[in-house]
Amino acid sequence: KAAKEHDIPEDLNKLLEDKVLETASGLCYVKMSVVEMTCLNGADEEGIVSKSVSSHSDLIPGVYEGGLKIWECTFDLIDYLSEAEIQFSGKTILDLGCGAGLLGIVALRGKAEKVHFQDYNSTVIDKITLPNVVANCINECHRDDNKNSKPPSKRPKVAECLPDVLTKCRFFSGEWSAVTQLLLSSNKPFSKYDIILTSETIYNPDYYSALHDTLAQLLDTNGCVYLASKVHYFGVGGGIYLFEKFVEERNVFRTSMVKTIDKGLQRCILEMAFKGSS
Ligand SMILES: C[S@@+](CC[C@H](N)C(=O)[O-])C[C@H]1O[C@@H](n2cnc3c(N)ncnc32)[C@H](O)[C@@H]1O
Repeated sequence: KAAKEHDIPEDLNKLLEDKVLETASGLCYVKMSVVEMTCLNGADEEGIVSKSVSSHSDLIPGVYEGGLKIWECTFDLIDYLSEAEIQFSGKTILDLGCGAGLLGIVALRGKAEKVHFQDYNSTVIDKITLPNVVANCINECHRDDNKNSKPPSKRPKVAECLPDVLTKCRFFSGEWSAVTQLLLSSNKPFSKYDIILTSETIYNPDYYSALHDTLAQLLDTNGCVYLASKVHYFGVGGGIYLFEKFVEERNVFRTSMVKTIDKGLQRCILEMAFKGSS
């Protein structure tokens, strides 16, 4: 699937126009069922909503890769990033396979210098990721506004602060290898990522090679990947042990299991860094 960079629309109000917002873990996000309804009424060029509904499936390999819903490991990784006090300030971050984009939004809140979002499906970026980033940035601007001790007339208005936050963000859709090529060959300046965050992206072993090479090509020499996953994906075949074995055989990254979660389906957080890095 070809890669594409998505422009941030000028009319930000329009992005949130027909959306309903929900909150969890202090983050807000658009209600998926409402987005799905508008998509079924024609706002989905890829047709992934109707395909997902008619096949009763959250994953249609090569067509729809699950970004319309928020998968539970996203919340595991948000918890871990907070518990481990991972610092984002001044860093460049990639939310790989972002779906709703909550991991990238957490990095933005942590004062990251740049945050890039990637999803396989362009509908997900346009209808879910972008609105979520804008909705959370608006909240953040309001929060800063309330914390600000300056008199109201001297404070930057939300309309002024929002575009500022958004200049830190870029949005991409497409298959991992294609997005990597787009980033590396683009005329725009590109610096490799200090941190790559990725949740529920190792369910399909057919994608391991593309995923591994993307991480290897886009991560900074001293960068770090935080990958959240179920231990096993029943019915799809992927899982953490298979992925770790794959990574070990490639001999590029060292891995370390930094957290396991035993509630419900077993899940975990894997940290990856280049072999020989500090
Ligand atoms: C199961 S969803 C998880 C979404 C989100 N990270 C979460 O935890 O809610 C998997 C994500 O990985 C991305 N993805 C999976 N396979 C991909 C591939 N081969 N190329 C590009 N993106 C892919 C899709 O964009 C999809 O959003």
